[in-house]
Amino acid sequence: MQKIAVCVSGGGTNLQAIIDKVADGTIKNTEIAVVISNKKDAFALERAKSAGIPAEYIGPKDFADREAFADAMLETLDKYDIDLVVLAGYLVIVPERMIQKYRNRIINIHPSLIPAHCGMGYYGLKVHESVLAMGNKVTGATVHFVDEEADHGPIILQKAVEVCEGDTPEILQKRVMEQAEWNILPQAIDLIGAGKVKIEDNIAHII
Ligand code: GRF
Repeated sequence: MQKIAVCVSGGGTNLQAIIDKVADGTIKNTEIAVVISNKKDAFALERAKSAGIPAEYIGPKDFADREAFADAMLETLDKYDIDLVVLAGYLVIVPERMIQKYRNRIINIHPSLIPAHCGMGYYGLKVHESVLAMGNKVTGATVHFVDEEADHGPIILQKAVEVCEGDTPEILQKRVMEQAEWNILPQAIDLIGAGKVKIEDNIAHII
C-alpha cells in the first residue's frame, strides 16, 4: 500500500478527483495519508477534512528561512511515512532537499502539454491565457516527476484537449481539468502504486 501526501494551494478539484478515485477503486493500492497546504484557507483543506484525511497547514512565510520550511515539510512527510508526494495545484517551489530525498517520488500536474506554456510564471489561468494568445488548436495536461527545474522532470502521462473557437481562459481551464487533469493524475498515481512506471536515461516508461 503506497502512502501519498497531496500538496495543494487552492480549490482542490484535482485532490477531489484523487479522493473519489481511491474510494471507487480506480486508484488501487494507495492511501492518502495527509493533505498539506501553504494556504490556511485553501478549500482543498476542507475537502480533505470532509473525507476524514489529516490536513496540515505549512506556510513558508511562518518560517525564518527556506531551510526551516524544508525541515518542516520533511518532518511532516516522515511523520506520515510518505512514499509518493503529489503536487496538485501547489504554488510553492519545492525545497531542493525535499527533491533530493524524494528523487522521482514527487509528481506534479501541469495544465499544458509540456514543454509548451510551462516554467516559472506559468500556472493556473495564465497557462490557458498563453495557449489562447498563441492560437494553439490543441492543448492538454501533463503529469511529470519533479526535479530542480520548474515543470521539467520526466513526463509520465499527457492528454490532449481541443481548443475551441470562442474559448475564454476559464472555459478552456475547465475543459482541460475535466477531460485531462482529473483523469491522468489519478491514473499516474495508480500506475506508480502498481510499480508500472520506470525511468531510464531520464525518460519515464509505462511498463
Ligand atoms: C489546476 O489548473 C491545475 O492544473 C494546476 O493548478 C490548478 C489547481 O486546481 N496545477 P485545483 O486546486 O486542483 O482545483
